[in-house]
Amino acid sequence: MSNKNYSRRRFLAQSSLGLIAFAGLPGFIQAMEGMHGMPKLTPNKASASFKADVECDLFCRSGSVSILPGQQTQVQQYSALLKKGPKDTIIDIAGSYLGPIINLQKGQKVRINLHNKLTEPTVTHWHGLHVPANMDGHPQYTIDPGEILVYEFEVLNRAGMNIYHPHPHELTAKQVYHGLAGALFVHDEEEAKLELPSGEYEIPIVIQDRRFDAQNQLVYAHNMHDRMIGYYGDRILVNGRPDFKIDVASRAYRLRVLNGSTARIYKLAWDDGTPLTIIGVDGGLLEKPEIKPYVMLAPGERLDVWADFSGRNEGSQLVMRSQAFSGVLPKMAERMGGMMMHGHSLPVGSDYPIFTARVTKKVSDSPKLPTQLTKINWHPLSSTANPDKPIPIGISEGPMAMLLNGRPYAFNDIQDVERIKVNTIQLMEIFHAHGGSGHGKQSASTEEHNAEQHGGGMGMMGMGHKGRGMGMMGGMSHGNEEPKTESHGMGMGGMGMMMAMAHPIHLHGQQFQIVSRSVGTEQEADYATVRDGFIETGLKDTVLVMPGETVRIIKPFQDFKGLFMYHCHNLEHEDMGMMRDFLIE
Ligand code: C2O
Ligand code: CU
Ligand code: CU
Repeated sequence: MSNKNYSRRRFLAQSSLGLIAFAGLPGFIQAMEGMHGMPKLTPNKASASFKADVECDLFCRSGSVSILPGQQTQVQQYSALLKKGPKDTIIDIAGSYLGPIINLQKGQKVRINLHNKLTEPTVTHWHGLHVPANMDGHPQYTIDPGEILVYEFEVLNRAGMNIYHPHPHELTAKQVYHGLAGALFVHDEEEAKLELPSGEYEIPIVIQDRRFDAQNQLVYAHNMHDRMIGYYGDRILVNGRPDFKIDVASRAYRLRVLNGSTARIYKLAWDDGTPLTIIGVDGGLLEKPEIKPYVMLAPGERLDVWADFSGRNEGSQLVMRSQAFSGVLPKMAERMGGMMMHGHSLPVGSDYPIFTARVTKKVSDSPKLPTQLTKINWHPLSSTANPDKPIPIGISEGPMAMLLNGRPYAFNDIQDVERIKVNTIQLMEIFHAHGGSGHGKQSASTEEHNAEQHGGGMGMMGMGHKGRGMGMMGGMSHGNEEPKTESHGMGMGGMGMMMAMAHPIHLHGQQFQIVSRSVGTEQEADYATVRDGFIETGLKDTVLVMPGETVRIIKPFQDFKGLFMYHCHNLEHEDMGMMRDFLIE
C-alpha cells in the first residue's frame, strides 16, 4: 500500500471519529497536505565496509501478554536476536510487552536490522543517541510491513539511558501506546570506574499509563480531545506490570527511570519524605549528586536515582508516588474539571502510587555515594554561534493543530530559522508563542488578553527571531507568512491562553544544557507546585516547558548533516503536528 493511500485511509478513519467537523478549516487542510509530502525511500541495506562489533535483528510485531489477571492483552512489541557481540547486549524483560534492554558500549560499531512484522508502517528512532541523520529513524525512513531497514552507527554517546521507539508519521503515539518501546543503555569506562550499583542492584523503572477495557484490551481513543490534551490511562504500569513491586536488600540501588507514557507527567517522590538523590538525567551522569524533595518527569525524560535502603528494617517498604501538582493542563480543561477528563479516575496532577520497594533482606554493607561523578564539558554562551539571537522554538496550541514556530509538521518545509550550520553550537529559546507572558512581561487576565497584547508580545520576542510571526493564536501580524495557520477568526486570543499547557520539548541529536528558565507572574502559583522538581545540572534532550515558561538552551550540532527533528514528546501532540525538522548543513 502506498503512503498516499495509507494517508487517505487514516484521513477517512479519523473523520468518522468526529474530526469531520474541523476538516473544513484551513489549518486542518494544511496538516493533511503535510502527510502526503513524506517520500517513500528504498530501505537502507547493510554496507560491506561497516565492520560491526555488535549486530542484532530487531523485530516489531503484534503479540499478546498477560498484564491483568484473566485474558491476555493484545500488544505490539519489540523483540531482538543477537547475531554478534557480548551476550548481555540484549536482555529480555520476562513477561513484559516492553522491548528488551539493549546494552551498548561507547565506541562500539552497531548494526541493527529492523524487521517490520506489523501490518502497518514503522521506523525506529534511538532517542538520545547522537547518530547520523539517515540512522536516526526519521519518519522519511519508515518501512512497510515485510521490509527490513538496516541501521549502522558508532556509539558516540557517553554513558546514559536512552530510549528506542517508533517514529512513523502520525503513528508514533499509537505504536508506543500499544507497547513498542524499550530502554537502551550506553556504558563507558568513566561510569564503570565509579562502581555504581549494578547487576541485580541496578533496576530499570519504565513508567507508563494505560487504559484497559473489560476484556483486558488496551483502549486508545483517538478523538479530538485526546489529541489536544494528550491521552491518559487510568492505570500505572512499571516495566509493563501493574502494581509493580521490587524486593530490595538494605543497601544502595541504582534506579534507571524513564517516563515512557505518551502524555502523562509525574512528580516523583518517596512517600516517607526521604528526598530523592539524583545522579543522572537524559544525557548521563551529573557532576555531583542532587538532592531533591521531588522530581518532575515528563514523557521522554530519564532519571538516574540513587536509592539507598541502608538501615531500613526487613519488612519495611518505601513507595514512590506521583505527588499533587497543578498547571500542566489547559485552564480550560482544569476549569471544566471532570468533564474534560471524562470523569477520569487518575487525574494528571493527583497523588497516586507508582511502585513499591520492599526491604526483604538485611545486609551490612553498601556502596558509598560518590561525591564527584563526572565532569561535564559545558559550552559557554560565548561559544555559541548566536549569543544574541536564539533560534526560536515557539509553541502554539489550537483546537485542530499543535504547532511549532507557527507551522505543523510538513516534510521538506525548512524555514530559515531551521537551517543550522554543522559543527556549531546554538543558543535556542523555547517559549509559548501565544499568551505573551513567557518573556518576563506580564499580560493581564485571559479576558483582556487581546490581539494587541499578542502583537506586543510577539514584537518583543521577534527581536531574537528574525521577526517571524510565530503561533497561530491572536491577531499577531504574520507578515508574508503562510496565511493557512492564522487565527481562525473565533477570538482565539483568549482561547489560546485557555489552551496553554505544558509540553516536553525534545530535540534529536546531541544533548543540550539548560541555560535559564523563566515564567510569567500569572503562572507563578501553579509553577510553585513543580519548580523544585527540575534539574538543570545535567545534559538533557527533553525539557518540560510549563505554560507561560521560556526556556533557553545551548545545543551543539556536531558531526552530522541532514534532518534532525524537534518536537513535543507528548506523543499525541507530536502526531498532531507539533514537530518540525532542523536541517543541519
Ligand atoms: Cu523520543 Cu523524536 O523522539
Ligand atoms: Cu528523539
Ligand atoms: Cu505538547
